[in-house]
Amino acid sequence: MTRRDPDRPTLRAAGEVDSETTRARCPLPPFPDGWWVVGLSSDLPPGKLIERRWMGRLIVAWRDHKGTVCVADVYCPHMGARLSPSAGGRILFDRLRCPFHGFEFDASGACVRTPNAPAPSSCRLGTYRVHETAGFVFAYFGTGSRIPDWEPPAVDVGGWTPIKVSRIKVRTHPQDIAENSVDINHLWQVHGWENGRQSSRARTDGRYYTAAFSYTGHPNMPGMSRVPYEAAPVVHVWGLGFVYTESDADAFGARVRTWFLASPVDGDYFEAYVAVQVRGTPRRPGRFPALDASIAGLRDRVARWVIAYEAVKEFRKDVAIWNHRRYEASPALVATDGQLHKFRQYCRQFYPSLAAEGLEDDAAA
Ligand code: FES
Ligand SMILES: [Fe+2]
Repeated sequence: MTRRDPDRPTLRAAGEVDSETTRARCPLPPFPDGWWVVGLSSDLPPGKLIERRWMGRLIVAWRDHKGTVCVADVYCPHMGARLSPSAGGRILFDRLRCPFHGFEFDASGACVRTPNAPAPSSCRLGTYRVHETAGFVFAYFGTGSRIPDWEPPAVDVGGWTPIKVSRIKVRTHPQDIAENSVDINHLWQVHGWENGRQSSRARTDGRYYTAAFSYTGHPNMPGMSRVPYEAAPVVHVWGLGFVYTESDADAFGARVRTWFLASPVDGDYFEAYVAVQVRGTPRRPGRFPALDASIAGLRDRVARWVIAYEAVKEFRKDVAIWNHRRYEASPALVATDGQLHKFRQYCRQFYPSLAAEGLEDDAAA
């Protein structure tokens, strides 16, 4: 006999709940295991303390002058004071000082100083593993405080522009972001993109999922909608919080990487980070290399701006659907729907609690 959380609707009962909350529309656990963005690297210059609501809890984060980022629970392990800047938490000489009794913590989470007594070795912040790449700071969330046995890659940034980021509030389950990238059939209806098709079979390798598709798009930029372009993005998924696509943008002679990241807040909303970076296709140097380089730099900046504009505009069209969408555990798929089952099977590994709740089979569909 499996115990169920009485506050959580079963998959089949989800449609009967008269509410628009994400929990009412989606019975999947709201916080899948994995690496989830906490903020941008630029949010964390050395010495700055920030607070976030993330994965249903409050956290603080800061960076010391060696570059180490600490992401930790907001409450002090001594006697529970809140460590956020608004509650009096401060970074002094690379240490987080608690406003209550003045205990100080280094970026490993260890208490290294108290005002009147030796630092107790048992006094440690509740910290999260951190992975920083491409201008994002990710932290690992594991059900029951599991620690990670895997890490996403350090993404190559050589020759790429910095990211241009928009943060958008979304009310759906974070799985929808990655799932969107394998849903071929919505490309025409939602985005107006023609000839959408999966160009290669999806492949999984443990925590990694990749798929490729292609379509003919039409820019949103005023006056450009009649100029179609061909796109063939490859989707890279390292858990549900680490998703990006790469494709060529022939019009700019550039390669484009677009990040679609969810930072789950409270089980109802998540903050989406839609970010674009561009790498110009190397060209043979001309007679004036310095001029060539500055033209290429300008071209990449323009490309990044235009493509980011397009990406956010298209992303908002998805959000309009997601904000009201119900999770269908047994979707009535047609041949052109892509490999949704394979994707959902891949997703199961990030929900270790599903089996315990007896929902595993339904969710895997
Ligand atoms: S509660 Fe933080 S030092 Fe006492
Ligand atoms: Fe979409």
